[in-house]
Amino acid sequence: MNRLNKYGGIMRQTPIMALLPLRCYWLAALLSPTLLAAASVAAAQDAKPAPKAFPAALVEAGGARFVQQCAFCHGRDAGGGEDGPDLTRSKLVAEDRDGNQIGPVVRNGRPEKGMPRFTVSDREIAELVAFIQTQKTLAESQKGGRRGVDAADLQTGDTAAGKLYFNGAGKCSSCHSPTGDLAGVAKRFEGLKLEQRFLYPRDVKAKIVVTLPSGETVSGALAYKDEFNVALTDASGRYRSWAVNRVKFTIDAPAEAHADLLAKYTDDDIHNLMAYLQTLK
Ligand code: HEC
Ligand code: HEC
Repeated sequence: MNRLNKYGGIMRQTPIMALLPLRCYWLAALLSPTLLAAASVAAAQDAKPAPKAFPAALVEAGGARFVQQCAFCHGRDAGGGEDGPDLTRSKLVAEDRDGNQIGPVVRNGRPEKGMPRFTVSDREIAELVAFIQTQKTLAESQKGGRRGVDAADLQTGDTAAGKLYFNGAGKCSSCHSPTGDLAGVAKRFEGLKLEQRFLYPRDVKAKIVVTLPSGETVSGALAYKDEFNVALTDASGRYRSWAVNRVKFTIDAPAEAHADLLAKYTDDDIHNLMAYLQTLK
């Protein structure tokens, strides 16, 4: 297991691959350069005050969760990817204390900006925070190249198993049809793009219905939402916003179903689904 030493770095003690309960193929890239460089990070930090160190088990659990639910947008090492910003350089992460900034972002998402919301327990937030902050500490000591999702290994799935999952456990068929909306999807998106698309179709607009104090309802595309304000763009293109405590509203974000699925996929499910979706030409 990799353990945090007293300087907050991660020591590599045994082959991590064999021990970490991660299941994705992003794993290989997550583990290699960052963690291997970590021992030297600890040494380099001898002179500085120690950054906050998290229990190794917490960091590990957070790493596993991050790889499964966050990495394909934020990069395996939280260093940023095609669809999500570098969290190791984020001001919000820098200002976070025990999850008070990261927690709300993860739970509320920023649906209008491509950050899904996740249903996570306090413990799971603590794990994610431990992982992200540890990655930040590492990244600050060695800014290396940035990596996206690995294109390798996209072609290893079983088409029949993918089809079964699509119509069964995955419940994909409750929203999609291979001869309807998904017909030709493999022509529209190839390889990695297709995979990113089904892991989380990020540019899908959420709809919102706002009920004003008068009882009047206004509906449109969700344009903005934070703790204090909510806004939409109505059918005529007009932007309207309200303080959240003045109105009632319901948000329908159909693509959020994809965010919920992230926690459920096994490695095989993803490979098999990819194989199946690639037959939809
Ligand atoms: C589908 C892509 C996607 C996934 C999956 C995703 N994020 Fe994000 N995330 C984003 C985007 C895009 C932003 C930037 C939103 C914005 O511009 O305000 C963001 C922003 C954030 C921020 C705020 C950064 C800042 O500086 O404001 C945090 C923290 C964060 N994500 C954590 C996570 C965690 C933890 C997970 C996994 C549980 C996760 N994200 C999963 C796309 C994603
Ligand atoms: C609750 C409904 C729901 C479920 C369940 C669901 N999806 Fe989706 N999915 C969506 C929505 C909404 C979109 C965005 C549609 C769009 O962009 O036109 C989408 C987009 C996609 C896309 C991209 C389509 C395109 O043309 O851009 C793929 C591929 C996809 N889903 C695959 C899946 C798979 C595979 C599963 C099951 C593991 C699944 N979805 C489960 C609602 C759902």
